[in-house]
Amino acid sequence: MTTGAAEHATRSVIDLWLGFAPAPELAGAREIEGDNPFAIFAAMQVAGVADVRRVGVLCTKPEHVGTARAAGAGAVVAVGDPAELSAAAPDAAVPAAGVEALVAERWGPEGSQRRLVLLNPGPALTSPAVKRAAAGADLCHREPEFRDLDRRVRTKLRSLAGVTSDWGIALLSGSGTAANEAALRSAVHPGEQLLVVVNGVYGERLRESARRAGIDTVPVEGAWTEPIDPDRVAAALAANPDVRGLAVVHHETTTGLLNPLAELVSISAAADVRAVVDAISSFGVEEITLGDGVDFLTCSSNKCLHGLAGAAFVLVSPGGGRRARSVEPTSVALDMRTYLDADASGTPPFTPAVPALAALDTALDRALAEGIAGRRARYAERCAILDAAIERLGLVQLIAPAARSHSIRSVRLPAGVSFADLHTRLRSLGFVVYAGQGRLAADIFRVACMGEVEIADLQRFVEALEAVLAELRA
Ligand SMILES: Cc1ncc(COP(=O)(O)O)c(C=O)c1O
Repeated sequence: MTTGAAEHATRSVIDLWLGFAPAPELAGAREIEGDNPFAIFAAMQVAGVADVRRVGVLCTKPEHVGTARAAGAGAVVAVGDPAELSAAAPDAAVPAAGVEALVAERWGPEGSQRRLVLLNPGPALTSPAVKRAAAGADLCHREPEFRDLDRRVRTKLRSLAGVTSDWGIALLSGSGTAANEAALRSAVHPGEQLLVVVNGVYGERLRESARRAGIDTVPVEGAWTEPIDPDRVAAALAANPDVRGLAVVHHETTTGLLNPLAELVSISAAADVRAVVDAISSFGVEEITLGDGVDFLTCSSNKCLHGLAGAAFVLVSPGGGRRARSVEPTSVALDMRTYLDADASGTPPFTPAVPALAALDTALDRALAEGIAGRRARYAERCAILDAAIERLGLVQLIAPAARSHSIRSVRLPAGVSFADLHTRLRSLGFVVYAGQGRLAADIFRVACMGEVEIADLQRFVEALEAVLAELRA
């Protein structure tokens, strides 16, 4: 066996390629002898690569694919006749002449599998355990294994939310918008009135979702940079006695602004109005007390819960459940009653996104172990790094400190710097930042510290931001 230090660029996903002899030539590749998975670890040791996920293996025989897989290699490429080798389930099977191009395209410094530090507000970075959970056993959703998974997820969600079993859970496969639409359609009949707080893109979307469901909306609009004033909501409810529901976005991801949830839901409860709370980017991190007037709380798995995209849910209070059962459904896919029935039976009404639920199950273990307050503290530590850098670089934040969430910072683009240039250059250094939305598109950029973002990632990001801004401002 011959090995050596990785010669690939440090930003390549794979630090070391090993080939079972006789593997074809690949720049930086080393040869490994025998079928023993432990030979891979021996080669890694000599090369000084500590993590087997940073190792790629080139295989010419099906049994070597199994060996490389068993060792946990980050990439397994079968080299030869794809028709013969594909059955062994490598990541790719190519003829020898195609290896170099495939490796560059997928695992090279600019490859599609390259690790980017996602600083966008979801889908957020996930842990290896969450990714492994998604790639676990194939499950049929009508079999006991799925019912166990379904029950585990519901139990963990109730525990994280601090609610008892009289709260229902609608587990949906889809994005957060599906959860919002299911909640709105079960809180208010078509033709009835819904008061909607609108101080960002997602409040606007709630209004539009309700409008398309035939609900009569009464907007309470506010500046996008300030929390909504609860007195205005109280006044609007008093002026519109036929309103049956209140819809509000807790954390306006548009800007990183928190609305005063506790005050708003106590106002709606006092007026006997059902509250629909979009907590899609706040549940799991921000403080939320359920039981004080929240009837429908929506969330998705891929933001502060650190799961994968594809699963969303609605937590439904006992009163919200009664309301949902009294409303004539206006959708088959989003019929809340069928989802609440599934809570009891463990059998979903439609084919669920099984891998996303398996990932959520694992992600919730970490969320529960950390606790919401613990995760908030972790995010706060990361945001403090961003706040200090923003100030040091002479940048200006859009939202005043008291109204900022624990996960997003909205920063004004400096004069003469476009988001497109900033994004492209930061991306080339391995970081994804997010554009402003709607009327803020040309004015701001956003940085989120949701997900498994490490302190070291943010420290490197701050250095990259400083360098890129110096270049762009010059
Ligand atoms: C507050 C809020 N509501 C709703 C949504 C829509 O979620 P999705 O894109 O998953 O449909 C988002 C997405 O970012 C959000 O941040």
